[in-house]
Amino acid sequence: MRALILAGGAGTRLRPITHTRAKQLVPVANKPILFYGIEAMVDAGITEIGVIVGDTRDEVMEALGDGAQFGAAITYIPQDEPLGLAHCVLIAKDFLADDDFVMYLGDNLLEQDLAAFTAAFERERAGATPPDAQILLKQVPDPHRFGIATLDSDGNVVQLIEKPADPPSDLALVGVYLFNALIHDAVAAIEPSPRGELEITDAIQWLVDQGRRVRCELLTGWWIDTGKLTPLLEANRLLLERIDSQIDGDVDETSVIDGRVHIAAGARIINSTIRGPVSIGPDAEIRDAFIGPFSAVGARCSVVSSEVEHSVIMDDSTISDIPRLEDSLIGSHAEVNRTRRKPRSLQLMVGDHCQIDVE
Ligand code: DAU
Repeated sequence: MRALILAGGAGTRLRPITHTRAKQLVPVANKPILFYGIEAMVDAGITEIGVIVGDTRDEVMEALGDGAQFGAAITYIPQDEPLGLAHCVLIAKDFLADDDFVMYLGDNLLEQDLAAFTAAFERERAGATPPDAQILLKQVPDPHRFGIATLDSDGNVVQLIEKPADPPSDLALVGVYLFNALIHDAVAAIEPSPRGELEITDAIQWLVDQGRRVRCELLTGWWIDTGKLTPLLEANRLLLERIDSQIDGDVDETSVIDGRVHIAAGARIINSTIRGPVSIGPDAEIRDAFIGPFSAVGARCSVVSSEVEHSVIMDDSTISDIPRLEDSLIGSHAEVNRTRRKPRSLQLMVGDHCQIDVE
């Protein structure tokens, strides 16, 4: 089995952060979102990985390299314009050949045993009514934002619609799909949707219309489509909940470390309190500060005389003299400083290379 990971497209909903970086590379618990998907593939024994790249290809290729760091072999497939998820399958035809494959949306994060998901497909493919595709569904409160599936009373997939205004169910398509080679006929047969994209939802509907079996599973763990601020902070929270304590950096004797905290090598904690779960990246400096639960502070950041909680601060940024920063996403190489003394709490989304002086 091969894998196709989609890391092209445009990330309008996380602007300003995604003006300057691929949304799939935004770090969650101090690791780029995309890495979690690739690691899940490799854990499931899938090491031949094609990655669709768009405008942000240089950055994605630099981060992933040839895949050796993950124990995988990565082939890049450039997409000139984000013409849709099914378009990605169309242009990956040579890479995928006739193999079964898992398609994984590079901005999705989920708690799912991918090996069990693929094993179920392979087992059923050898059975009496072999499926040609397998999808993963999750009940959501806002179905108009997703591809939506309708099932019959036996649990068979009968209809799939992309972002319906009037959703027929609340079962959303999660961004992990399994296909066999028949999907190549499907993506060649469909027409662009009203929003001008070749929708994978329509390609799967084509399989259903041809009388093919589309198997579905319900996701029991959590799932986050990270393209927006609140889900991104939620993903950061869920992943930090899983970290183990590990202190590789220096903590001076006036500092207090409480709960599960990961402090990377080269980081320095001076006269500060770190209350986990928290991840502090390599060579960061935390001085006279409080870093509260569910915060990830990136590599080489400096947090001085400030309180930070439930926030993601990307690499090389500085936070100084901020009484309280919470529920915030701070880009890399950003500076947030206070210039006058008036205590207040801030909730910010700050792009890369920005400087904010709070009065
Ligand atoms: O997150 C699950 C949802 O993902 C599904 O419920 C929907 O059925 C599915 O269409 C998709 O909807 P989104 O609107 O969230 O897709 P988005 O445009 O965010 O693209 C998903 C990923 O694929 C993202 O990493 C960007 C990448 N992509 C997207 C397009 C349209 C590409 O690489 N090329 C593209 O042409």
